Amino acid sequence: MKIKLTINGVPRETEITPDEKLLGLLRREGYFGVKFGCGRGECGVCTVLLDGRAVNSCITFAAQAHNRSVTTVEGIGTPDNLHPIQEAILDHGAAQCGYCTPGIICLARDFLDENPDPTEEQVRDALKGNLCRCTGYQKYVEAILDAAGRMRKLSGDSG
Ligand code: FES
Ligand code: FES
Repeated sequence: MKIKLTINGVPRETEITPDEKLLGLLRREGYFGVKFGCGRGECGVCTVLLDGRAVNSCITFAAQAHNRSVTTVEGIGTPDNLHPIQEAILDHGAAQCGYCTPGIICLARDFLDENPDPTEEQVRDALKGNLCRCTGYQKYVEAILDAAGRMRKLSGDSG
């Protein structure tokens, strides 16, 4: 079957099988920022945005993306123009091996769009579904709180 979708702002048409997952589609199309971990919706490394909301792409059928918009980490900032979330993660040294980082960036993007001025507890709660084997989360929490401040400043609301 053929579906139409937008990936990182670019309209695409692609053939899928009825049982194909969004994770497989995206990696087949070259979006290797989307990582494979548990394949069961438990680790969050495959997180992408579907119409702006974070989903685990390993348990989302590719067919569910028909006529919708998908954003992967490749669509959030560029190497020359990082998104504030990416800047903050770098500045705080939050990524170690980095395997969980693309998913956490996508998760944080959705979370901060919904909650631009979160508490530390809310950030910790949001990160519950994104496992990181390396960092103990403290630096990610600090980075996301910092990113929230940077984004509020950019939007003209310094709180
Ligand atoms: S690979 Fe999707 S949640 Fe683990
Ligand atoms: S930085 Fe290695 S799994 Fe998170």
